[in-house]
Amino acid sequence: MNLRNIPFDELYENFLLPEKGTPISPEEAMDLAFRAALQGAGFVRSNPLVGAVLVNKNQRFVAASWHSKFGEAHAEQALLQKLKTKNLEDELHSATLYSTLEPCAHQGKTPSCSHLLAKYPLKKIVYGRCDNTKKVSGNGLKHLELHGIKNELFSSTKNLDLADKLKFLTEHFECYEERRKPFVTIKVASTLNGIYAHSDSKREWITGERSRKYAHFLRLLSDAIVVGARTIIQDNPSLTDRFFQKERIPLRVVLDPTGEALFSRKLSEHFILKEKSKIFWWINLETRNKISSTLMKESETRGICFKVFEGNTKEEKLAHVCQELYTEGQARILLEGGGSLWSSALNSKLCEKLYLFQAPKIFSGDHIMHWTKDAKIQYLNLENSISTLLDKDTLIEGLTDEHHTL
Ligand SMILES: NC(=O)c1ccc[n+]([C@@H]2O[C@H](COP(=O)([O-])OP(=O)(O)OC[C@H]3O[C@@H](n4cnc5c(N)ncnc54)[C@H](OP(=O)(O)O)[C@@H]3O)[C@@H](O)[C@H]2O)c1
Repeated sequence: MNLRNIPFDELYENFLLPEKGTPISPEEAMDLAFRAALQGAGFVRSNPLVGAVLVNKNQRFVAASWHSKFGEAHAEQALLQKLKTKNLEDELHSATLYSTLEPCAHQGKTPSCSHLLAKYPLKKIVYGRCDNTKKVSGNGLKHLELHGIKNELFSSTKNLDLADKLKFLTEHFECYEERRKPFVTIKVASTLNGIYAHSDSKREWITGERSRKYAHFLRLLSDAIVVGARTIIQDNPSLTDRFFQKERIPLRVVLDPTGEALFSRKLSEHFILKEKSKIFWWINLETRNKISSTLMKESETRGICFKVFEGNTKEEKLAHVCQELYTEGQARILLEGGGSLWSSALNSKLCEKLYLFQAPKIFSGDHIMHWTKDAKIQYLNLENSISTLLDKDTLIEGLTDEHHTL
């Protein structure tokens, strides 16, 4: 198992650029490009997170930039704009550009990065990951070669951790573009023996403050956050990011077949409705027919958009929800709980990645709930799992690799 020393939320929060002219090695340049890319967290939707760093012919740092918002300048274009604004275009002469991803080759909402870069006398582009989407797939690199700019896929024997970091930046994009589905992650806070809640108690914190902060970073990263009805009833969560305070609220999604969460308290007392932003509230057709026109109107003015489940089992329903979210352009989906929801995601093999925050505690008794309580999986392997210490808790994360249901 790999151990991650610095959690990503710290890298995100404590992002500082070196002084212009600072000597910088290829590893440092790519690591800086990774940290620059993280700055786009929460805003790039189905696009990859991308960072770019320019190192001049004397191996000195010049500037860094990143893709900051879906539909806006790509990292390389943002970098060129920065150089222009700062009158630093001369530094491009014989320079090396480090980008976390192969430069694009197509004109979409923004111009093609390889065409923009080819206008400058760069020596080389070093890229962190290949973009295997049809529109790119080596085409940008070929164009740059035609203009005398070499290219190289980054590899490092000194910083093995970097390969994982670079993969993280594109995991949702690769899933969305290549496999045509959203990147679904499960986030669980549990005890050492896998307990995530007591069935007889109100909201309780299992993990410590540091883990909860990281969980907010996962919210920041996500396009949509999904919870089951009983989490709404028990916890009354707001499902916003209170630590990083970006002007963006992810799409909140509630799975509430019988309306038990909707009817559990007055709308004015649901914390999830405090922030006026869109909420998808999935219900069964029979439930929809029970909602009075007054409640329907009030719900809609408070941001709720009712959706009707398709399918009979929870697995089929979740697959339908994910498909709809995909169609809506939601690329990173976070399943926040509880156990009934996580189990359905495991059973339907919809979960791409697991984040397990484990507190050094054991709960026992008659009312404990195991996070895989309804799962029918025989086993699940996490690929290249990584552990990070978050004060007393341990975060274990990994992509779900082999996955066998009973
Ligand atoms: N430790 C943590 O990380 C964490 C995180 C979140 C919540 N919690 C705790 O978890 C507890 C609630 O968990 P829970 O397992 O009892 O309930 P839950 O998963 O929050 O909610 C269950 C409800 O959601 C519906 N649902 C779940 N998955 C669905 C799917 N795929 N499609 C359609 N509907 C779906 C269920 O439908 P059916 O009625 O058809 O079964 C049921 O109505 C609370 O105590 C909360 O505090 C802990």
